[in-house]
Amino acid sequence: MSAAKQGAVSKAVIPAAGLGTRFLPATKSQPKELLPIVDKPSIQYVVEEAVAAGITDVLVVIGPEKQAIQDHFSSDAELERHLEEQGKLDLLAEVRAVSNLADLHYVSQLEPLGLGHAVSMAREHVGDEPFAVMLADDLMIDDAVLLSRMLATQAEHGGAVLALMESTPEEISAYGCAAVEEIESTKSGMAGVMRVRGVVEKPKPADAPSNLAVIGRYVLPPEVFDALDRTTPGMGGEIQLTDAIGLLIDECPVHGVTFSEGRYDAGDKLDFLRANVELALDRDDLGPGLAEVLKSIVARRGL
Ligand code: G1P
Repeated sequence: MSAAKQGAVSKAVIPAAGLGTRFLPATKSQPKELLPIVDKPSIQYVVEEAVAAGITDVLVVIGPEKQAIQDHFSSDAELERHLEEQGKLDLLAEVRAVSNLADLHYVSQLEPLGLGHAVSMAREHVGDEPFAVMLADDLMIDDAVLLSRMLATQAEHGGAVLALMESTPEEISAYGCAAVEEIESTKSGMAGVMRVRGVVEKPKPADAPSNLAVIGRYVLPPEVFDALDRTTPGMGGEIQLTDAIGLLIDECPVHGVTFSEGRYDAGDKLDFLRANVELALDRDDLGPGLAEVLKSIVARRGL
């Protein structure tokens, strides 16, 4: 389905106000969302994914010290002049493209009161439309296939749509977990769509209602803002988006779209390294060289 036909969702919200403590000291003076995967900040991949799915307006929820994120997506006349003078026209085009990617907006979340609280900061900007929430820690390198399927599901059923990935009992405690029910079929005949009957934030393995983890892509109706208003602090004393979605389940359809490919957890050191290696291997300029480097490391260390 083309992005234009999906129509209704034109805005995405990217919460980027977290402290990034898992990547200290790299994140002492730099937002974790700007840590590069190969040579591009992780948040840029997320904005590009939104644009590839037909979204044109992106609101980034930033913390008090996150001016650098705005700088990254703004034009930089001095840098552009320098690249032009040096004849580095490919880089110039790339740098210009970053500032023309989408219609970017920013809102500050002054206190880290939780993901749900971060999303509630978007209320005024989003208005009365369904919108996407995209967590910058979850990198989806899938040509926006998952997000496009979620937008199509939202266009068909309304309500909210969650991204669901099978996980092991050990992993599930790090995620929201969804209780689901199979549905007959969707009009579009899309596979992997199910009805969500309940969600629980970071359950103990024994309490998990399924093996389906909620991953950081959501399509939400504007009613989520009222649900967030009614959400009391949950896991970790924070306002959890998962809990607000739990309230929505009683009020509107909530569907899940399952996927298995293309996700990296940029907030996890090992997966961050895996993303760097895989994405560099995919590139013509780096892939062959890196493959040789990796082979020699493996051989030398006897891995
Ligand atoms: C957040 C959500 C959680 C979700 C996860 C996806 O948790 O609260 O429900 O499963 O993102 O990455 P966080 O990773 O911010 O602790």
